[in-house]
Amino acid sequence: MISESNLIEVFSLHKINHTEYFQKVYEHIQDGIVVMRESREIIMLNPAAKRLTGWKVGDYVPYCSFCTTRNRRVETPSCYLMANEDVPSILSQMSTNRKKTLDVEMSVSVINRNVETGENEYLLVLRDCETMLKAQEAALNKKMIQALIDAKESEHKRLAQELHDGVGQSLYSVSVALEAIEAYMQDNEKLSSYVKEVRNELRKVIEDVYTYSYNLRPQSLDQLGLKAALENLIDNMKKMAPHLIFELTTQGLDRCDPAIEINLYRIAQEALHNVVKYAQASYVKISIRKNNTHIHMKIEDDGIGFDRKSIQNKGLGLKHIEERVDLLSGTCAIRSEMNKGTVVEVTIPRWRPNT
Ligand SMILES: Nc1ncnc2c1ncn2[C@@H]1O[C@H](COP(=O)(O)OP(=O)(O)OP(=O)(O)O)[C@@H](O)[C@H]1O
Ligand SMILES: [Mg+2]
Repeated sequence: MISESNLIEVFSLHKINHTEYFQKVYEHIQDGIVVMRESREIIMLNPAAKRLTGWKVGDYVPYCSFCTTRNRRVETPSCYLMANEDVPSILSQMSTNRKKTLDVEMSVSVINRNVETGENEYLLVLRDCETMLKAQEAALNKKMIQALIDAKESEHKRLAQELHDGVGQSLYSVSVALEAIEAYMQDNEKLSSYVKEVRNELRKVIEDVYTYSYNLRPQSLDQLGLKAALENLIDNMKKMAPHLIFELTTQGLDRCDPAIEINLYRIAQEALHNVVKYAQASYVKISIRKNNTHIHMKIEDDGIGFDRKSIQNKGLGLKHIEERVDLLSGTCAIRSEMNKGTVVEVTIPRWRPNT
């Protein structure tokens, strides 16, 4: 770090004209710099201040919303910052000539005493908070979406366990009981075939419960990881689309952060559902590659493709894919061409960003 005294040394060493140097700082700094009289008449302002406020030399700096709305006695000075030298800065809103008020962080300090008039001159620094607030708002939104997705996933996990361990197991017990009853009914053919029917129905319900439970939260994902869960997903999808050939290839894929695994799983699930529902494809390939820094996943089909412009507002699946990737600070490309198939490609950092 350069101290004040050796800054002068650096200037002389490099033969820098420090007046010109500070002039450049004054012109290029992003904070608005205004010099005003005690009367608040502007005597100087830098380009950033002009850009932010539209003020010019000779204008009077208005009082900010903090001073115009606070309760003050008549003898209290109108400008809080000019009256309180020990207050470094405040956040407030300032009227401008740009037809809008500006959210600003402001500081005021005495910069000079005019020898002729004996009047103080003040340096007012304005920092635009709007951009900063927008960035904070976007970060907060991202955190909230992340929290919602996490909450949804953990609720899914709980429901999946309830369905599997609770409802599924109870139904299984009923089925075993029916089997026993059936054994006692050998001599009553009508009743026996009725019980058989009920048992068959029950078997289908049990299968459905396990499928719902699996779809809510694939247990293999938590236990065995993404590859096993995708293999299971593909096995289930083959039942829905027996003519479609699925291929899954992975490279370097060991276990990842659970949030990354579930998000990649959901992305693949959505993309594959779309292939089955719309693509009329004969072949779909899922390839996943993990290297030292990133995980790439690509799902490509040889189907009829689509035009992104003409599917606006059609569904949420592709939008959710993009949102999930964004939350993981990754990038996503969805390319499709009529009759040339569709490719969904995502790349995400191996480590989940701190949210
Ligand atoms: N692989 C694909 N092949 C052909 N068309 C596709 C493919 N994937 C998506 N589409 C088209 O893009 C549209 C939007 O897909 P998206 O997944 O966003 O919504 P959706 O599947 O219609 O509804 P949702 O996913 O919300 O249930 C689909 O309706 C379909 O027309
Ligand atoms: Mg969809």
